[in-house]
Amino acid sequence: MADGLNDKVALVTGGGSGIGRAVVEAFVGEGAKVGVLELSPEKTEELEALGPNVKAVRGDATSLEDNEKALSETVDTFGRLDALVCCVGLWDNQAKLKRIPKEKLREAFQEIFAVNVESYVLATKVCADALIDSGGCIVYTLSNSSFYPDGGGPLYMASKFAVRGLLVEMAYELAPKVRVNGVAPGGTATEIRGLKSLDQDEPMLASPKMKEGLKAINPLQLEIEPEDHVGAYLYLANGELSRSVTGVVINSDGGIGSRGMTKIAGLL
Ligand SMILES: NC(=O)c1ccc[n+]([C@@H]2O[C@H](COP(=O)([O-])OP(=O)(O)OC[C@H]3O[C@@H](n4cnc5c(N)ncnc54)[C@H](O)[C@@H]3O)[C@@H](O)[C@H]2O)c1
Repeated sequence: MADGLNDKVALVTGGGSGIGRAVVEAFVGEGAKVGVLELSPEKTEELEALGPNVKAVRGDATSLEDNEKALSETVDTFGRLDALVCCVGLWDNQAKLKRIPKEKLREAFQEIFAVNVESYVLATKVCADALIDSGGCIVYTLSNSSFYPDGGGPLYMASKFAVRGLLVEMAYELAPKVRVNGVAPGGTATEIRGLKSLDQDEPMLASPKMKEGLKAINPLQLEIEPEDHVGAYLYLANGELSRSVTGVVINSDGGIGSRGMTKIAGLL
């Protein structure tokens, strides 16, 4: 991996905390320069403190103009764009259909689809030409909820399956110039926000009880941390290592797809 990201330039959306923040730090550690589009002013300030190889841009990934601003500030600062990495996301705190009041359904649907799906489309649209010019790549953040039920409620599940559809289409549309792949994390202790429209004010995933629960459901029996996923992003962004790879998803979820029917893992 030594020279793979050296002097490459990436734009990470939602890089202010959790998985995106771990990706930003790992990319910088591998020699990349990284622009970051981040909604939170506090997290944007913390990103600035990472030094001259990070250009933090405060803005909303659901806005076309803010995506354009993030691209232009990244290219003005670092001269080019080689990779777009989308990490923005909201969860639905497992709101099952029965529990969502029908008068809130439309607003909740629009809130989660704007962040989890539309922002990925907008970032792709805005960055496509620069990536075609550089022969670059895109890495989307999917989820175990892009494959298997019960990782959220219907709103999160539908949004994460939609990103998988976007990935397959963009891998086709942008070939042969741009590789488009994804990473599908499993339950990871982060402060991921729930939906304002459903009054989900408290982040749910990082509580000790939830961490224990997330460990219990994966065959590798791991308490998965954001850093556990960065190898997959580094690999997919590194054209020396993955130049023949496009349209695929790396599942980084402790083996949820290998759960047994009678017990979770063979050795348990
Ligand atoms: N944590 C998990 O268990 C898990 C599992 C599977 C997939 N994921 C996915 O990983 C991605 C990252 O989630 P995370 O768990 O690291 O959460 P996180 O909240 O720590 O990271 C998301 C970042 O995006 C920022 N953000 C949110 N809305 C934004 C917007 N409109 N514009 C710009 N920035 C915005 C947040 O401020 C935050 O910094 C998401 O796509 C999520 O769906 C997470």
